[in-house]
Amino acid sequence: MENVKKTILSGIKPTGNLNIGGYLGAVKNWIKMQDDYNCLYCIADLHSLTIRIDPSVLRKNSIELFALYLACGLDPEKNTIFFQSHVTQHAELAWVLDCYTMFGELSRMTQFKDKSAKNAENINAGLFTYPVLMAADILLYQANLVPVGEDQTQHVEICRDIANRFNGVYGEVFTLPEAYTPKVGARVKSLTNPSAKMSKSDDDDNGTVNLLDPRDVVIRKFRKAVTDSEACVRYAPGKDGINNLMSIYSAVTGKSFEDIEKEFDGKGYGDFKLAVGEAVSDMLAGIQDKYKVYTSDRAQLEAIYRQGADRARYIANKTLTKVYKKVGLIAK
Ligand code: TYM
Repeated sequence: MENVKKTILSGIKPTGNLNIGGYLGAVKNWIKMQDDYNCLYCIADLHSLTIRIDPSVLRKNSIELFALYLACGLDPEKNTIFFQSHVTQHAELAWVLDCYTMFGELSRMTQFKDKSAKNAENINAGLFTYPVLMAADILLYQANLVPVGEDQTQHVEICRDIANRFNGVYGEVFTLPEAYTPKVGARVKSLTNPSAKMSKSDDDDNGTVNLLDPRDVVIRKFRKAVTDSEACVRYAPGKDGINNLMSIYSAVTGKSFEDIEKEFDGKGYGDFKLAVGEAVSDMLAGIQDKYKVYTSDRAQLEAIYRQGADRARYIANKTLTKVYKKVGLIAK
């Protein structure tokens, strides 16, 4: 029978530790999708080069993130899991797409504006064309859906624009993808600065809960989380800290905001913060156990990522060959 499953592609940059923002915003959705879709997940290692990163740190982060993908529950038999740099077609398609992407549209990207404001000394061309490489990641596999957190939806939009422009000139070469974000957890905020997103690059370690943080550290970080002076657990405008904690608790336990308000009716923030910390640590305990098993067998990890790259390369090559032919390059 013809394979009618839709295709999913997503990725994470190994610029730091994976935190609960990336997990609740993206990876949790990936796990749910593995039975019903053709899923491809990359470690976006080429994207990491847009910031200065020590090579040994990048290598360590990359392998750790790969093991975390597996530990979070991605089954390598059901999903194609690979390093972006192992499939050279990503960089090759990115070059072609660069020539179909406008300077003006890249200048409007929020992430580019934020990152260049924060790193004025290193506004490199890679940072500027970052969304084009991401578009190549997605379009090479003709992905229908891209499960990401809210901060990446603008990049999926520009990917559609690039694909549309290319298709307009050469016919239906690329499938137009759509972003897929979770109902709660699409924008997890920093625990210490709840108006900003929880981020790998946050200098304040207390704002970010990493998937590999031990239980006592997780509980401590939630205990210290910034809230307000109202001391009433309810979701309301202006209560950024509590809204964030409620969203995290809801995403982890599946409870609605209404249920949470009832559960903590008459209780203080201390009880609530402890409950969120415990729920998050319980969730992380299973991931951390599996992580230890995966990282203890380097040969198995290598076999999985090589097989993943082989599978990905086969599909990527089909798309790239078509693109090269369409634009008029001579076949090899
Ligand atoms: P990255 O590495 O910054 O983040 C990885 C994923 O986690 C989501 N995320 C969050 N979701 C909710 N709350 C947060 N605080 C939070 N922080 C991160 C991100 O939205 C993302 O889904 N450019 C991408 C990586 C990438 C990619 C791709 C994604 C490269 N190629 C192709 C999709 C398709 C990035 O920097 O994600």
